[in-house]
Amino acid sequence: MRKSDSELIIRYMNYDDIKAVHELECLSFKTPWPPSAFEDELKNEVAVYLVAEIGNEIAGYVGSWVFLGECHINNIATAPSYRGMGIARRMLLKLMSIAYKKGALGMTLEVREHNEPAKKLYEKLNFTYAGKRKKYYSDTGEDAYVMWNNDILATIVLNGGDKA
Ligand SMILES: CC(C)(COP(=O)(O)OP(=O)(O)OC[C@H]1O[C@@H](n2cnc3c(N)ncnc32)[C@H](O)[C@@H]1OP(=O)(O)O)[C@@H](O)C(=O)NCCC(=O)NCCS
Repeated sequence: MRKSDSELIIRYMNYDDIKAVHELECLSFKTPWPPSAFEDELKNEVAVYLVAEIGNEIAGYVGSWVFLGECHINNIATAPSYRGMGIARRMLLKLMSIAYKKGALGMTLEVREHNEPAKKLYEKLNFTYAGKRKKYYSDTGEDAYVMWNNDILATIVLNGGDKA
């Protein structure tokens, strides 16, 4: 990981992060969540939202719900200038570690059928395809692939821990 000499820190998101997270959301998604959606999530008892911080910059974030022994990923993005440096991988491993400590054994998500970088990211972390939701994304009419990792502890161990 290079780009800045500052260390990458992965920590819980807080209200002061929302402006930067929303800017990143707008750069990353066709239908970005408004800032109020992140405010609501920070009040949600089951939500686990993390940011990747480098220096004073928010380089990425991941949001999820952890409940009933599962972790459901709601969104994940890395800032365009920080992509390809392993930040999303590190955020997901950190999230797996937190979710496991909260009682989750598995993790799931929906991904756009044509989102190759995201599908590769998840495959590399042992997610497999578990089904399709037809025309799930109303903005483009794309299908969603549902992916599952049923043993997040094994993925944490295989990857040498969360390292963050
Ligand atoms: C998908 C996304 C989060 C990946 O973030 P990232 O920090 O660049 O990913 P990482 O550097 O941690 O990559 C980890 C692995 O993912 C895969 N990957 C990431 N970007 C890739 C790309 N452009 N093409 C192919 N594989 C890619 C690779 O397998 C990579 O491992 P490797 O470098 O050892 O080969 C980022 O591209 C992004 O923010 N996209 C826009 C938002 C989005 O689509 N989010 C997912 C919603 S489901």
